[in-house]
Amino acid sequence: MIAIKLITFSLLLGSALAAQSTTTSPGFTPASDTLLGLFFDGNTFVASGSHKELSQVSIPPKLALEKRTHATNYLSLMVDPDVFYLNVTYTFLHWLSQDLAIGDHSSFPRFPFILTNTSANLAEYISPGPQAGDTHRYVYLLFNQPKGFNITDAPYDTDVYTRLSFNLPSFIQENGLGDPVAGNYFLATNTSSK
Ligand SMILES: *[C@@H]1O[C@H](CO)[C@@H](O)[C@H](O)[C@H]1NC(C)=O
Ligand SMILES: *[C@@H]1O[C@H](CO)[C@@H](O)[C@H](O)[C@H]1NC(C)=O
Ligand SMILES: *[C@@H]1O[C@H](CO)[C@@H](O)[C@H](O)[C@H]1NC(C)=O
Ligand SMILES: *[C@@H]1O[C@H](CO)[C@@H](O)[C@H](O)[C@H]1NC(C)=O
Repeated sequence: MIAIKLITFSLLLGSALAAQSTTTSPGFTPASDTLLGLFFDGNTFVASGSHKELSQVSIPPKLALEKRTHATNYLSLMVDPDVFYLNVTYTFLHWLSQDLAIGDHSSFPRFPFILTNTSANLAEYISPGPQAGDTHRYVYLLFNQPKGFNITDAPYDTDVYTRLSFNLPSFIQENGLGDPVAGNYFLATNTSSK
């Protein structure tokens, strides 16, 4: 009886731990068990999986870490993996920012290491825009930026179709990004009727 209870307990604990490691949304890959601090309006912290109003996320968030890693620079990106267009699901690239460095010590509780871009974005922030009546996930990933990382010729900014056909697994592999060091996501709904 006790043994059964223990097994049940460890199964429950196992699923609680698994749930904790989905900061980038259940089923989304790559996953990260480290939370990336996202702050809109200066200091509104985004809890992983929370709902945001479109008006709250119209400008890019500040990014911050709980602990620094060995990296000098970081690369961050934001994608919408839920774009359904002409019967195909796409991952839309909303934001791609390189050469992030730990700058000021933030005043955000829990996330002291604020990340600041030291060069131009590779893709400027496009605010969430789910189709009418739809709820989409907006996933943020942070990577250690490899030494010699250089994709200055990326056409993401001008070409919306390049953003729409963004291939996240290929991008990670081609640029040797490895596993993300942190992630987060929120949900946003377009309340207009279809
Ligand atoms: C869209 O996909 C569904 C399910 O796969 C299929 O039944 C339908 O015919 C497709 N519609 C178009 C316009 O391709
Ligand atoms: C950081 O990104 C912002 C927004 O795109 C840009 O205006 C600014 O020039 C960038 N900073 C540097 C140092 O390039
Ligand atoms: C919501 O849907 C409406 C109707 O399609 C569209 O006009 C509007 O731009 C959408 N809102 C956003 C923030 O994308
Ligand atoms: C990045 O690559 C471009 C051409 O692909 C080259 O002109 C430039 O010097 C490189 N920059 C760095 C910092 O390596």
